[in-house]
Amino acid sequence: MNSMRVNHHPVLGDLETHKEIKIYFDGQEYTAYEGDTIASALLASGVRTLRFHEDKETPRGIYCNIGHCFECRVKVDGKKTVRACLTSAENHMQIESCKALSASEVKGGTL
Ligand code: FES
Repeated sequence: MNSMRVNHHPVLGDLETHKEIKIYFDGQEYTAYEGDTIASALLASGVRTLRFHEDKETPRGIYCNIGHCFECRVKVDGKKTVRACLTSAENHMQIESCKALSASEVKGGTL
């Protein structure tokens, strides 16, 4: 599903000129294009929730889209706290949403 994707852009050009790649978010395959960030690729596929608040468990996603707020943080290939809005999508990238922390983790336990 690419219904939210801009296919023709006056500065970035036409989408057909960009190579299609595959990324995986929480185990599900999504189409991305070279030049996409993780956030842009997932948003274009209709994914708005990238993680859940560690304590309140409310959904979080893109907020500033310029790397300031850290609301878009995800795990990439096992690495925690990757900002989806600043990280380029790469072919076969494994991305995981960040889940709420357990009670022991919230109280200072290990992550
Ligand atoms: S959306 Fe704010 S840092 Fe990514």
